[in-house]
Amino acid sequence: MFRSLLLRPFLAGADLHTRVTLSRVSSVIAPGRSRYRSIFTSATRRERIANFESYWAYSVGHDGEILQDQKDLVKKRETLVGFQAHPVRSRRPLADPARFYRNHVIMQDDPRTLDRKTLLLTFLYKFARHEYVGISAAWDRTEQITESTSLIAKIGLYHLCEEFSHMRLFQEILRTFHLDQVEWVPLGKWMSRMYRLFPMFPEAMLAPPAFVSELMGLTVYQHIDGVLDDILADEPEARERIRALLREVMTDELAHVGQRRNFLGPLGLRAAHLMVESMYRAFFRDIPETRLLFDVEQMVRDGKAFDYSTITPEMLEKSWVPSYCNA
Ligand SMILES: [Fe+2]
Ligand SMILES: [Fe+2]
Repeated sequence: MFRSLLLRPFLAGADLHTRVTLSRVSSVIAPGRSRYRSIFTSATRRERIANFESYWAYSVGHDGEILQDQKDLVKKRETLVGFQAHPVRSRRPLADPARFYRNHVIMQDDPRTLDRKTLLLTFLYKFARHEYVGISAAWDRTEQITESTSLIAKIGLYHLCEEFSHMRLFQEILRTFHLDQVEWVPLGKWMSRMYRLFPMFPEAMLAPPAFVSELMGLTVYQHIDGVLDDILADEPEARERIRALLREVMTDELAHVGQRRNFLGPLGLRAAHLMVESMYRAFFRDIPETRLLFDVEQMVRDGKAFDYSTITPEMLEKSWVPSYCNA
């Protein structure tokens, strides 16, 4: 329920960058478990300030220029166009696409009667829809980048544009399965109001759930990646395309986890660690597909124990890790 309610311009941290030391932190890391500290490892204020600078330098290099009127970024657009120029479509369309359309917004059928492909796609839609509603509410409060825009606000804008680019990648995933009629349906009146209110809370209150929300996204994508070989065993081309699209999203989400971690002082960090279990459980309870597709207990454990050793070196090379998470 909190998913990306929490994405917003990150106002309260805006003073941080004024005392920044401009140290660039390398994000290229070799594999091996011992090379990383837990995401819940402590960091000094000075380290966090330096890491905001480092993250911003990474964002600009990774995304290119912002296309603010289109909620997009130059390099994200190029990536999407690249996929669309060479479309891959599943050879075995869903047995009954109407079952997807009947259950993607709200599960109407008994989810146990759905085949696993349809289940995976309705899950993905529901997960992404929460994100869409959250980022749309946050977008309404953004402003044009100017000379005086703070570092934190610029990071927030790039972050939001990345999230909008993910919506386009998710749509490409659905199109791979011939689901061309999918729209992001707004939430009901009450929930929409919640999402609109949320960005008005002070940053100190929002930072821990915002971080956990990003961590949960990463956990979900890792677990989706883990079931693709099984669920799409009879669709090798579509499977590899979906994996490529998913990993585009994951690379950004991995960076978001570190970036949102960077907002947390000692108290916030402890609060976030305490929140992992309840937030994951509350969110997944609302999506009935989850238990049928994934091991929720393992997801909770993965969230609490996250360090970068579970991520492939190829992805780490393209993503960003806070300096204090390197051992
Ligand atoms: Fe996201
Ligand atoms: Fe994210």
